[in-house]
Amino acid sequence: MAYAPYSRYQVGAALLTEDGSCYQGGNIENASYGATNCAERTAVFKAVSDGRRRIKALAVTGGLEGTEPSDYAYPCGICRQVLQEFGAEDMTLIVAKSVTDYREFSLKELLPFGFGGESIK
Ligand code: THU
Repeated sequence: MAYAPYSRYQVGAALLTEDGSCYQGGNIENASYGATNCAERTAVFKAVSDGRRRIKALAVTGGLEGTEPSDYAYPCGICRQVLQEFGAEDMTLIVAKSVTDYREFSLKELLPFGFGGESIK
């Protein structure tokens, strides 16, 4: 359900919460560009606004409209920071080109030395 009329780069994310719920999200672009929301954050904010605050795993894929993904779509820096806030300690991040071609990472691998709630206690 990506809304990407400007870049035509469509991203989809699906996440699993600690209580076993699934949420999906697409990127939502804006004519101002800066107000664009990434797919990962769309999915995370849907979960959080439903009261689900611990994410166990998140998968993301992306590609130009009408084509198969040509590369892995890694989460941007802002999305990594949002996952730092709501990801479980051992959260898994999956970047996928297809259901059989994907890579798995921990959040710590993609955001080492992250800044989180613990940092300001
Ligand atoms: N995008 C995402 O949805 N997730 C990312 O982590 C990186 C970028 C989107 C934003 C924009 O709509 C499009 O990809 C091109 O940057």
